[in-house]
Amino acid sequence: MAKDKITVVGAGNVGATTAHIAATRRLGQVVLLDIVEGLAEGKALDMAEASPIYATGQDILGTTDWAATADSDVVIITSGVPRKPGMSRDDLLATNTQIVKSVSEKVVEYSPNAFVIVVCNPLDAMVHAAAKTTGFPTQRIMGMAGALDAARFSCFLAAEMDVCVEDIKCVLMGGHGDDMVPLPRFTTVGGIPVSHFVEDAKIEAMVERARKGGIEIVNLMGTSAYYAPAAGAAKMAEAILRDTRNIFSCCVYCDDEYGVGGYFVGVPALLGKSGVEKVIELDLNSTEKAQFAESLAHVKALVGKVDTLL
Ligand code: LAC
Repeated sequence: MAKDKITVVGAGNVGATTAHIAATRRLGQVVLLDIVEGLAEGKALDMAEASPIYATGQDILGTTDWAATADSDVVIITSGVPRKPGMSRDDLLATNTQIVKSVSEKVVEYSPNAFVIVVCNPLDAMVHAAAKTTGFPTQRIMGMAGALDAARFSCFLAAEMDVCVEDIKCVLMGGHGDDMVPLPRFTTVGGIPVSHFVEDAKIEAMVERARKGGIEIVNLMGTSAYYAPAAGAAKMAEAILRDTRNIFSCCVYCDDEYGVGGYFVGVPALLGKSGVEKVIELDLNSTEKAQFAESLAHVKALVGKVDTLL
């Protein structure tokens, strides 16, 4: 059987780390592409040279040539400028819209049957840009953000509670911005509601920290996070390629679902061999609904701006 093929567009921090995870997890043949001559080639060679040490047998190619990406099963778009201190994700909109548009055109040309996972910011609007440019069925287009935001919340909870992080399951909705909506009511630890273990004020503080998790890292190191975003993107690709049917908080197309009305936004969704197999509709309470509506309004405003640029 032919190996699955995964193209990662952008050999910056997020792209290279995503490619490395995909290769070490042997998800298939990994192609790392960048427009900067030598960058993807160098990083891919470095990764391949690391593989004998851990005996991971990496199948990874670095390139500037889109032809090498032909017939990819999954394309992960990480190219775009990251934030610097003082910037919001929204400040990246104009530049990254053009980048996502040109990359998406190449994806249509070289991998018309691919699943597309968008990682660049402002995330939800960039997923829209990719969807509009490719015209691919919405089941095949999604964005990675909720996996990261949920992972941050889980990480803070695990540290607070001193429990195994694997026991924490949480759901996040809304756009990937400061108004994202972590849902403590649907967060469990070893199958037990988190409220059993942690008082409300502490949970609320961790929700706030997760909301600001991106900028916390930007302020520490002057550019945005990449280990956790890359882990999220690689895991979503794995869910599709291996048909794991894991449920992710991720940015997918919702029409009737949650009354969204035809936008890509963060919701819990089941990923498998057909891409987005199902959006899970939770019974939100009035506070959660209001928070989601506010975040969705923000996403819609950004999408409006993207539409003027495409
Ligand atoms: C973050 C950026 C990648 O949340 O959006 O770290």
